[in-house]
Amino acid sequence: MPKKIYIKTYGCQMNVYDSDRMQDLMNSVGYETSEEVEGSDMVIINTCHIREKASEKLFSDLGRIRPFKEKMKEAGKQMIVAVAGCVAQAEGQEIFRRSNVVDIIVGPESYQTLPDLVGKVLREKTKQINLDFVPDNKFDILPSSNAGVGASAFITVQEGCDKFCTFCVVPYTRGAEYSRDINKILDEVKALIDKDVKEIYLLGQNVNAYHGFDENKNPANLAKLIEKIAEFPQIQRIRYTTSHPRDMDDSLIEAHRDIEKLMPFLHLPVQAGSNSVLKAMNRKHTRQDYFKIIEKLRKAKPDMGLSSDFIVGFPGESDADFEDTLDLVKQIGFAQCYSFKYSPRQGTPSADSIHQVAEEVKERRLAVLQKLLTEQQIDFNKKFENQIMPVLFEKEAPKSRKNSSKNPIDSDKIQLWGKSPWLQSVVVEVDNQEIANNFFNKISNVEVVKARPSSLFGTISNLK
Ligand code: 5AD
Ligand code: SF4
Repeated sequence: MPKKIYIKTYGCQMNVYDSDRMQDLMNSVGYETSEEVEGSDMVIINTCHIREKASEKLFSDLGRIRPFKEKMKEAGKQMIVAVAGCVAQAEGQEIFRRSNVVDIIVGPESYQTLPDLVGKVLREKTKQINLDFVPDNKFDILPSSNAGVGASAFITVQEGCDKFCTFCVVPYTRGAEYSRDINKILDEVKALIDKDVKEIYLLGQNVNAYHGFDENKNPANLAKLIEKIAEFPQIQRIRYTTSHPRDMDDSLIEAHRDIEKLMPFLHLPVQAGSNSVLKAMNRKHTRQDYFKIIEKLRKAKPDMGLSSDFIVGFPGESDADFEDTLDLVKQIGFAQCYSFKYSPRQGTPSADSIHQVAEEVKERRLAVLQKLLTEQQIDFNKKFENQIMPVLFEKEAPKSRKNSSKNPIDSDKIQLWGKSPWLQSVVVEVDNQEIANNFFNKISNVEVVKARPSSLFGTISNLK
């Protein structure tokens, strides 16, 4: 009987990528993927430490796993429980102290050693911890992508962060900036092409700070990497995330103008609109810098869709500072954004500030900001009503969507789910499975019938 592995993932796309790689790795040593904790021989919780309640979530998950682990033991089997990701990196041994359910603690830069660690747990009946930072080694050891491959695939090209924004744990949990060499990334692209992938999503905590080397050992930036990937005829779309305004150089802006396969959408977190808050955050850019970048981008690519992260209630943020954030949002006009209340993270400089903002003020500001951002998102989506757009169809729409009362397409037909160039979810219905299968992994023109805040509904334009 093959062994079974269940992985639960929290956090960003880089964690999703890491979970897929851990799954590939464990598949390669005989573990089959399972959808549930019960009966699994191994359970991995891939954690995120970026905002509040990360460790509370972890320990409540571990509490829920305990009875299943005990049931396995009663049946004479062993369930190995591993904690991976940024909480593992940040809290280390403390996790063993707080929960004896855990057998393995492994960091985001050392999970390539999982099969080894599992072997030791089984043979030596000991607990194992590995929090080393050896990123190059990680990518060399990992098997090629298998898990989660569809029309679109992630590739981590850069990891870590040297920027040290004063609110952020990433430089501590993910380590210094590191870029993979172009050749190794292109090899991964080729392997994904063999699996019929059409869209490559380049990932990095600071992806636009990418600085790898090409085949002749010459330095290459993200624009160069994108240009190389665009040369593969099979790859039809390229995206990248997450970027920092400081690294938004002219070559990347020109790539948006010149490389058609590079999608017209950019996630460029500004965090706040007030210069004094940006300074206290150690962002090393001003609101004027941000405006200038967006102006250049829109000049290069007029239909660019923009996205950002915002933090409200950073220590010392006044009402006037917050107004500056609202003003920035109004001036830019975003397609879609993420916004958060500031949460002090232990070990980061701003956590110790004596100017913490009251919880109710944070909540009020967040509600005001989110209302504005939702209005902008609806406006952005509405612009596409009655327009035709190319959609890369990936899979059937999830059942919940299909039965949702909010879904204006209400029938027993098959619903396809895909993405627009601007990262909107697009849902379309077709008569039956046979027709549906013709659309997966392909780009088709869709006429948008109805725009909702978080998705578009349409019809295949050449089926009419
Ligand atoms: N509090 C609130 N939000 C945070 N982020 C990062 N650290 C914190 C924090 N301490 C947000 C930032 C970042 C996103 C991934 O998470 O907006 O861009
Ligand atoms: Fe965190 Fe700032 Fe680095 Fe982004 S740039 S990962 S917010 S420290």
